[in-house]
Amino acid sequence: MKRIGVLTGGGDTSALNPTIKGICLKAEELDYEVIGFIRGWAGVLDSGEYAVIKSDMIDPDLGGTILKTSRTKLGKIEGGYEQAVKNIQRLDIDGFIPIGGDDTLSVVGQLQGVRSVAITKTIDNDVGTNAPDGDVVNYEEIINYYTPGFATAAARVAEFTSMARGVRTTAYSHDRIIILEAMGMSAGWLGLAAAYGHADFIIVPEYALVMDELEQKVLERYEQNKEVIIAMSEGAVGPDGKILHEDEANVDAFGHKKLGGVAEFVAQHLKDALAEKLQTRNFNAVIPSYLWRCGAPSAVDRDNAIALGKKAVEDLDQGAGGRMACLVRKGDDLVATSVAFDTLPRKENGSLVPRKMDARFFDPEKMCITDAGVKYFEPILGPMPEARRPAKLDTKKITDA
Ligand code: F6P
Repeated sequence: MKRIGVLTGGGDTSALNPTIKGICLKAEELDYEVIGFIRGWAGVLDSGEYAVIKSDMIDPDLGGTILKTSRTKLGKIEGGYEQAVKNIQRLDIDGFIPIGGDDTLSVVGQLQGVRSVAITKTIDNDVGTNAPDGDVVNYEEIINYYTPGFATAAARVAEFTSMARGVRTTAYSHDRIIILEAMGMSAGWLGLAAAYGHADFIIVPEYALVMDELEQKVLERYEQNKEVIIAMSEGAVGPDGKILHEDEANVDAFGHKKLGGVAEFVAQHLKDALAEKLQTRNFNAVIPSYLWRCGAPSAVDRDNAIALGKKAVEDLDQGAGGRMACLVRKGDDLVATSVAFDTLPRKENGSLVPRKMDARFFDPEKMCITDAGVKYFEPILGPMPEARRPAKLDTKKITDA
Protein backbone atom coordinates (compact mmCIF):
# COMPACT_ATOMS: atom_id res chain seq x y z
CA MET A 1 0.00 0.00 0.00
CA LYS A 2 1.23 3.49 -0.85
CA ARG A 3 1.77 5.98 1.95
CA ILE A 4 1.22 9.67 2.54
CA GLY A 5 2.94 11.52 5.38
CA VAL A 6 1.40 14.51 7.11
CA LEU A 7 2.36 16.91 9.91
CA THR A 8 1.03 20.11 11.44
CA GLY A 9 3.56 22.82 12.39
CA GLY A 10 3.42 26.27 13.98
CA GLY A 11 0.53 27.71 15.99
CA ASP A 12 -2.60 25.60 16.19
CA THR A 13 -5.86 26.71 14.57
CA SER A 14 -9.42 25.46 14.50
CA ALA A 15 -9.07 24.15 10.94
CA LEU A 16 -6.27 21.60 11.37
CA ASN A 17 -8.36 18.55 12.17
CA PRO A 18 -10.73 19.15 9.25
CA THR A 19 -7.70 19.46 6.94
CA ILE A 20 -6.38 16.14 8.22
CA LYS A 21 -9.87 14.66 7.87
CA GLY A 22 -9.95 15.65 4.20
CA ILE A 23 -6.52 14.10 3.66
CA CYS A 24 -7.55 10.82 5.26
CA LEU A 25 -10.89 10.62 3.41
CA LYS A 26 -9.29 11.10 -0.01
CA ALA A 27 -6.33 8.87 0.88
CA GLU A 28 -8.67 6.03 1.83
CA GLU A 29 -10.64 6.50 -1.38
CA LEU A 30 -7.42 6.26 -3.41
CA ASP A 31 -5.99 3.44 -1.29
CA TYR A 32 -3.19 5.21 0.56
CA GLU A 33 -2.21 4.76 4.20
CA VAL A 34 -1.68 8.02 6.11
CA ILE A 35 1.24 8.41 8.51
CA GLY A 36 0.89 11.34 10.90
CA PHE A 37 4.10 12.75 12.34
CA ILE A 38 3.67 14.06 15.88
CA ARG A 39 4.53 17.64 16.98
CA GLY A 40 5.33 19.23 13.63
CA TRP A 41 8.84 18.94 12.27
CA ALA A 42 9.98 17.37 15.55
CA GLY A 43 8.09 14.27 14.39
CA VAL A 44 10.42 13.61 11.47
CA LEU A 45 13.64 13.88 13.47
CA ASP A 46 15.45 10.81 14.82
CA SER A 47 13.77 11.39 18.18
CA GLY A 48 10.35 11.82 16.51
CA GLU A 49 7.11 9.87 16.77
CA TYR A 50 4.45 8.94 14.23
CA ALA A 51 1.13 7.12 14.05
CA VAL A 52 -1.05 5.63 11.34
CA ILE A 53 -4.22 7.73 11.17
CA LYS A 54 -7.62 6.98 9.67
CA SER A 55 -10.55 9.23 8.83
CA ASP A 56 -12.83 7.80 11.52
CA MET A 57 -10.32 8.87 14.22
CA ILE A 58 -10.68 12.51 13.29
CA ASP A 59 -13.51 14.78 14.41
CA PRO A 60 -13.52 17.73 11.99
CA ASP A 61 -15.47 19.85 14.47
CA LEU A 62 -12.75 19.62 17.09
CA GLY A 63 -10.22 22.46 17.20
CA GLY A 64 -6.46 21.99 17.65
CA THR A 65 -4.64 19.14 15.95
CA ILE A 66 -4.82 15.43 16.66
CA LEU A 67 -1.15 15.30 15.56
CA LYS A 68 -0.05 18.01 18.01
CA THR A 69 2.25 20.77 16.81
CA SER A 70 5.47 22.61 17.59
CA ARG A 71 7.56 25.46 16.27
CA THR A 72 10.55 23.19 15.63
CA LYS A 73 12.86 24.67 13.00
CA LEU A 74 14.80 22.00 11.14
CA GLY A 75 17.38 24.51 9.92
CA LYS A 76 18.38 25.23 13.51
CA ILE A 77 19.00 21.58 14.31
CA GLU A 78 22.32 20.02 13.37
CA GLY A 79 21.60 17.73 10.41
CA GLY A 80 17.87 18.50 10.71
CA TYR A 81 17.03 18.40 7.00
CA GLU A 82 19.06 15.23 6.45
CA GLN A 83 17.34 13.45 9.35
CA ALA A 84 13.93 14.52 8.04
CA VAL A 85 14.58 13.24 4.51
CA LYS A 86 16.08 9.98 5.79
CA ASN A 87 13.16 9.29 8.13
CA ILE A 88 10.47 10.19 5.61
CA GLN A 89 12.09 7.85 3.11
CA ARG A 90 12.64 5.13 5.69
CA LEU A 91 8.87 5.00 6.20
CA ASP A 92 8.36 4.54 2.43
CA ILE A 93 6.37 7.72 2.10
CA ASP A 94 5.36 8.44 -1.49
CA GLY A 95 4.01 11.94 -0.90
CA PHE A 96 4.25 14.40 1.94
CA ILE A 97 1.74 17.02 3.15
CA PRO A 98 3.09 19.59 5.62
CA ILE A 99 0.30 21.77 7.03
CA GLY A 100 1.63 25.06 8.33
CA GLY A 101 2.16 28.79 8.11
CA ASP A 102 4.98 30.65 6.39
CA ASP A 103 7.70 29.27 8.65
CA THR A 104 6.63 25.66 8.37
CA LEU A 105 6.24 25.91 4.61
CA SER A 106 9.58 27.65 4.15
CA VAL A 107 11.17 24.35 5.18
CA VAL A 108 9.60 22.33 2.36
CA GLY A 109 12.00 23.37 -0.40
CA GLN A 110 14.91 22.13 1.69
CA LEU A 111 13.75 18.51 1.72
CA GLN A 112 15.55 17.10 -1.30
CA GLY A 113 13.85 14.08 -2.83
CA VAL A 114 10.60 14.43 -0.86
CA ARG A 115 7.55 15.06 -3.05
CA SER A 116 5.34 17.53 -1.21
CA VAL A 117 2.03 19.32 -1.60
CA ALA A 118 1.70 21.78 1.28
CA ILE A 119 -1.49 23.12 2.82
CA THR A 120 -1.45 26.45 4.62
CA LYS A 121 -2.97 27.30 7.97
CA THR A 122 -2.65 30.31 10.19
CA ILE A 123 -5.07 32.67 11.87
CA ASP A 124 -2.74 35.47 10.65
CA ASN A 125 -3.86 35.00 7.00
CA ASP A 126 -0.38 36.01 5.92
CA VAL A 127 0.49 33.23 3.45
CA GLY A 128 -0.43 33.94 -0.15
CA THR A 129 -0.58 36.97 -2.40
CA ASN A 130 -2.99 39.87 -2.77
CA ALA A 131 -4.86 40.79 -5.96
CA PRO A 132 -2.76 42.87 -8.38
CA ASP A 133 -2.61 46.62 -7.69
CA GLY A 134 -5.26 48.86 -9.21
CA ASP A 135 -8.41 50.78 -8.35
CA VAL A 136 -10.57 47.70 -8.73
CA VAL A 137 -9.76 44.60 -6.71
CA ASN A 138 -9.96 41.42 -8.74
CA TYR A 139 -10.74 38.98 -5.95
CA GLU A 140 -10.35 36.00 -8.26
CA GLU A 141 -6.63 36.75 -8.55
CA ILE A 142 -5.89 36.42 -4.84
CA ILE A 143 -3.73 33.35 -4.36
CA ASN A 144 -4.74 31.49 -1.21
CA TYR A 145 -7.86 33.57 -0.60
CA TYR A 146 -7.61 32.89 3.09
CA THR A 147 -5.52 30.56 5.20
CA PRO A 148 -7.58 27.87 6.97
CA GLY A 149 -8.03 28.83 10.61
CA PHE A 150 -8.35 32.51 9.73
CA ALA A 151 -12.07 32.21 8.93
CA THR A 152 -12.86 30.91 12.42
CA ALA A 153 -10.60 33.41 14.19
CA ALA A 154 -12.02 36.29 12.12
CA ALA A 155 -15.57 35.22 13.01
CA ARG A 156 -14.54 35.18 16.65
CA VAL A 157 -12.98 38.66 16.45
CA ALA A 158 -16.24 39.94 14.97
CA GLU A 159 -18.25 38.13 17.63
CA PHE A 160 -16.13 39.30 20.59
CA THR A 161 -16.39 42.90 19.37
CA SER A 162 -20.14 42.97 18.83
CA MET A 163 -23.18 43.89 20.89
CA ALA A 164 -24.72 40.52 20.05
CA ARG A 165 -21.98 38.46 21.74
CA GLY A 166 -19.03 40.58 22.71
CA VAL A 167 -17.52 43.46 24.60
CA ARG A 168 -19.97 46.05 23.25
CA THR A 169 -22.48 45.11 25.98
CA THR A 170 -20.12 46.01 28.79
CA ALA A 171 -18.85 49.07 26.91
CA TYR A 172 -22.47 50.29 26.72
CA SER A 173 -23.42 49.31 30.27
CA HIS A 174 -20.38 50.89 31.95
CA ASP A 175 -19.57 53.73 29.54
CA ARG A 176 -16.24 52.07 28.74
CA ILE A 177 -13.46 52.67 26.28
CA ILE A 178 -12.31 49.16 25.36
CA ILE A 179 -9.19 48.25 23.46
CA LEU A 180 -9.64 44.71 22.13
CA GLU A 181 -6.42 43.10 20.97
CA ALA A 182 -6.34 40.72 18.00
CA MET A 183 -3.44 38.39 17.18
CA GLY A 184 -2.08 38.28 13.62
CA MET A 185 1.65 39.10 13.98
CA SER A 186 2.52 41.92 11.57
CA ALA A 187 -0.55 41.54 9.38
CA GLY A 188 -3.81 43.38 10.05
CA TRP A 189 -6.26 40.83 8.61
CA LEU A 190 -7.51 39.60 11.94
CA GLY A 191 -7.85 43.07 13.44
CA LEU A 192 -9.77 44.16 10.36
CA ALA A 193 -12.39 41.47 11.01
CA ALA A 194 -13.55 43.55 14.01
CA ALA A 195 -15.39 45.65 11.41
CA TYR A 196 -17.92 42.81 11.27
CA GLY A 197 -18.53 43.38 14.99
CA HIS A 198 -18.88 47.16 14.41
CA ALA A 199 -15.74 48.35 16.17
CA ASP A 200 -15.55 52.15 16.30
CA PHE A 201 -11.91 52.22 15.24
CA ILE A 202 -9.42 49.63 14.01
CA ILE A 203 -5.64 49.79 14.29
CA VAL A 204 -3.64 47.60 11.90
CA PRO A 205 0.15 47.20 11.55
CA GLU A 206 0.06 48.29 7.91
CA TYR A 207 -0.66 51.89 9.00
CA ALA A 208 1.31 53.59 11.78
CA LEU A 209 -0.65 54.56 14.86
CA VAL A 210 -0.48 58.29 15.54
CA MET A 211 -1.52 58.67 19.17
CA ASP A 212 -2.74 62.27 18.91
CA GLU A 213 -5.09 61.32 16.11
CA LEU A 214 -6.45 58.38 18.06
CA GLU A 215 -6.95 60.53 21.16
CA GLN A 216 -8.95 63.05 19.14
CA LYS A 217 -11.13 60.34 17.62
CA VAL A 218 -11.78 58.70 20.98
CA LEU A 219 -12.60 62.05 22.55
CA GLU A 220 -15.19 62.91 19.91
CA ARG A 221 -16.77 59.46 19.81
CA TYR A 222 -16.98 59.20 23.60
CA GLU A 223 -18.55 62.61 23.97
CA GLN A 224 -21.14 61.53 21.44
CA ASN A 225 -21.79 57.86 22.46
CA LYS A 226 -20.30 57.38 25.93
CA GLU A 227 -18.65 54.17 24.69
CA VAL A 228 -15.83 53.37 22.29
CA ILE A 229 -14.44 50.09 21.03
CA ILE A 230 -11.03 50.09 19.43
CA ALA A 231 -9.85 46.82 17.89
CA MET A 232 -6.11 46.62 17.44
CA SER A 233 -3.67 44.16 15.96
CA GLU A 234 -0.94 42.91 18.28
CA GLY A 235 1.75 43.96 15.78
CA ALA A 236 0.66 47.63 15.58
CA VAL A 237 3.52 50.04 14.81
CA GLY A 238 4.25 53.65 15.68
CA PRO A 239 5.22 56.45 13.25
CA ASP A 240 8.86 55.28 13.40
CA GLY A 241 7.75 51.93 11.93
CA LYS A 242 8.68 50.05 15.11
CA ILE A 243 6.31 47.54 16.70
CA LEU A 244 4.76 49.32 19.71
CA HIS A 245 5.01 46.40 22.06
CA GLU A 246 7.05 43.18 21.85
CA ASP A 247 8.89 40.99 24.28
CA GLU A 248 12.58 41.33 23.35
CA ALA A 249 13.60 38.47 25.62
CA ASN A 250 11.00 36.00 24.39
CA VAL A 251 11.81 34.67 20.91
CA ASP A 252 10.32 31.51 19.37
CA ALA A 253 12.23 28.83 17.42
CA PHE A 254 11.52 30.68 14.17
CA GLY A 255 13.14 33.83 15.57
CA HIS A 256 9.92 35.88 16.09
CA LYS A 257 9.77 38.10 19.14
CA LYS A 258 6.67 37.37 21.18
CA LEU A 259 3.87 39.85 20.64
CA GLY A 260 0.83 40.50 22.81
CA GLY A 261 0.01 43.17 25.33
CA VAL A 262 -0.09 46.29 23.16
CA ALA A 263 -3.74 46.91 24.14
CA GLU A 264 -2.63 47.49 27.75
CA PHE A 265 -0.10 50.01 26.55
CA VAL A 266 -2.65 51.93 24.46
CA ALA A 267 -5.32 51.79 27.21
CA GLN A 268 -2.86 53.29 29.68
CA HIS A 269 -1.81 55.95 27.20
CA LEU A 270 -5.42 56.97 26.50
CA LYS A 271 -6.22 56.97 30.19
CA ASP A 272 -3.31 59.31 30.93
CA ALA A 273 -4.34 61.60 28.09
CA LEU A 274 -8.12 61.59 28.38
CA ALA A 275 -9.33 60.42 31.82
CA GLU A 276 -9.75 63.92 33.14
CA LYS A 277 -11.31 65.41 30.03
CA LEU A 278 -13.80 62.56 29.68
CA GLN A 279 -14.41 62.18 33.42
CA THR A 280 -13.89 58.41 33.34
CA ARG A 281 -11.22 55.90 34.30
CA ASN A 282 -12.90 53.11 32.29
CA PHE A 283 -10.12 52.54 29.78
CA ASN A 284 -9.98 48.75 29.53
CA ALA A 285 -7.71 46.41 27.58
CA VAL A 286 -9.20 43.04 26.59
CA ILE A 287 -6.69 40.47 25.32
CA PRO A 288 -8.33 37.16 24.38
CA SER A 289 -5.00 35.73 23.11
CA TYR A 290 -5.36 31.96 22.49
CA LEU A 291 -9.14 32.21 22.56
CA TRP A 292 -8.79 33.42 18.95
CA ARG A 293 -7.21 30.13 17.96
CA CYS A 294 -9.13 27.66 20.11
CA GLY A 295 -12.28 25.66 19.73
CA ALA A 296 -14.43 24.40 16.91
CA PRO A 297 -14.01 25.66 13.35
CA SER A 298 -16.71 27.71 11.66
CA ALA A 299 -18.65 25.75 9.02
CA VAL A 300 -16.93 27.75 6.24
CA ASP A 301 -13.50 26.98 7.64
CA ARG A 302 -14.26 23.31 8.26
CA ASP A 303 -15.64 22.64 4.79
CA ASN A 304 -12.89 24.50 2.96
CA ALA A 305 -10.20 22.78 5.04
CA ILE A 306 -11.65 19.35 4.21
CA ALA A 307 -11.67 20.30 0.51
CA LEU A 308 -8.02 21.41 0.69
CA GLY A 309 -6.97 18.18 2.38
CA LYS A 310 -8.62 16.21 -0.41
CA LYS A 311 -7.05 18.38 -3.10
CA ALA A 312 -3.52 17.86 -1.76
CA VAL A 313 -3.95 14.08 -1.85
CA GLU A 314 -5.36 14.23 -5.39
CA ASP A 315 -2.31 16.21 -6.50
CA LEU A 316 0.09 13.75 -4.93
CA ASP A 317 -1.80 10.85 -6.47
CA GLN A 318 -1.40 12.46 -9.89
CA GLY A 319 2.36 12.65 -9.37
CA ALA A 320 2.57 16.36 -8.54
CA GLY A 321 5.09 17.86 -6.11
CA GLY A 322 6.37 21.30 -5.13
CA ARG A 323 2.82 22.61 -4.89
CA MET A 324 0.53 24.28 -2.38
CA ALA A 325 -3.18 23.50 -2.13
CA CYS A 326 -5.03 26.78 -1.75
CA LEU A 327 -8.38 28.50 -2.03
CA VAL A 328 -9.32 30.79 -4.88
CA ARG A 329 -12.50 32.78 -5.36
CA LYS A 330 -14.83 32.09 -8.27
CA GLY A 331 -17.70 34.56 -8.17
CA ASP A 332 -19.11 34.33 -4.65
CA ASP A 333 -17.62 30.90 -3.95
CA LEU A 334 -14.26 29.64 -2.77
CA VAL A 335 -12.82 26.56 -4.42
CA ALA A 336 -9.82 24.38 -3.60
CA THR A 337 -7.08 24.35 -6.20
CA SER A 338 -3.29 24.26 -6.13
CA VAL A 339 -0.40 26.38 -7.36
CA ALA A 340 3.32 25.78 -7.79
CA PHE A 341 5.06 26.52 -4.55
CA ASP A 342 7.39 28.93 -6.40
CA THR A 343 4.41 31.22 -7.10
CA LEU A 344 4.82 32.65 -3.62
CA PRO A 345 7.31 35.48 -3.10
CA ARG A 346 10.36 34.59 -1.05
CA LYS A 347 13.02 36.53 0.81
CA GLU A 348 16.72 36.07 0.02
CA ASN A 349 17.10 33.53 2.80
CA GLY A 350 14.38 31.38 1.21
CA SER A 351 11.64 32.12 3.73
CA LEU A 352 8.23 33.22 2.46
CA VAL A 353 7.33 36.92 2.42
CA PRO A 354 4.36 37.29 4.78
CA ARG A 355 1.25 38.69 3.09
CA LYS A 356 0.19 42.07 4.44
CA MET A 357 -3.43 43.17 4.62
CA ASP A 358 -4.44 44.65 1.25
CA ALA A 359 -4.18 48.43 1.67
CA ARG A 360 -7.40 48.87 -0.34
CA PHE A 361 -9.37 47.17 2.43
CA PHE A 362 -8.68 49.84 5.07
CA ASP A 363 -9.44 53.54 5.39
CA PRO A 364 -6.65 55.01 7.56
CA GLU A 365 -8.44 58.37 7.97
CA LYS A 366 -11.55 56.84 9.49
CA MET A 367 -9.65 53.86 10.89
CA CYS A 368 -12.21 51.46 9.50
CA ILE A 369 -12.84 48.93 6.74
CA THR A 370 -13.61 50.01 3.17
CA ASP A 371 -16.33 48.63 0.88
CA ALA A 372 -13.62 46.64 -0.92
CA GLY A 373 -12.67 45.14 2.45
CA VAL A 374 -16.26 44.11 3.18
CA LYS A 375 -16.43 42.44 -0.24
CA TYR A 376 -13.28 40.51 0.65
CA PHE A 377 -14.84 39.15 3.82
CA GLU A 378 -18.19 38.18 2.29
CA PRO A 379 -17.25 34.59 1.29
CA ILE A 380 -15.59 34.14 4.68
CA LEU A 381 -18.06 35.78 7.08
CA GLY A 382 -21.16 36.34 4.97
CA PRO A 383 -22.90 39.69 4.54
CA MET A 384 -22.12 42.46 7.05
CA PRO A 385 -24.56 41.99 9.95
CA GLU A 386 -26.75 44.81 11.30
CA ALA A 387 -25.37 46.33 14.50
CA ARG A 388 -27.63 45.35 17.41
CA ARG A 389 -28.37 48.11 19.89
CA PRO A 390 -30.50 48.40 23.02
CA ALA A 391 -33.57 50.63 22.64
CA LYS A 392 -32.74 54.32 22.94
CA LEU A 393 -33.94 55.74 26.27
CA ASP A 394 -35.52 59.14 26.55
CA THR A 395 -33.58 60.15 29.69
CA LYS A 396 -34.44 63.26 31.72
CA LYS A 397 -32.60 64.95 34.58
CA ILE A 398 -34.02 64.21 38.05
CA THR A 399 -33.72 67.88 38.82
CA ASP A 400 -36.11 68.64 35.93
CA ALA A 401 -38.84 66.36 37.35
O1 F6P B 1 1.14 32.88 14.06
C1 F6P B 1 -0.02 32.59 14.77
C2 F6P B 1 -0.02 33.27 16.11
O2 F6P B 1 -1.22 32.94 16.77
C3 F6P B 1 0.19 34.77 16.08
O3 F6P B 1 -0.98 35.46 15.73
C4 F6P B 1 0.69 35.01 17.47
O4 F6P B 1 1.47 36.19 17.57
C5 F6P B 1 1.55 33.81 17.71
O5 F6P B 1 1.04 32.78 16.90
C6 F6P B 1 1.59 33.34 19.13
O6 F6P B 1 2.60 32.39 19.22
P1 F6P B 1 2.62 31.21 20.29
O7 F6P B 1 1.62 30.19 19.86
O8 F6P B 1 4.02 30.67 20.18
O9 F6P B 1 2.31 31.81 21.62
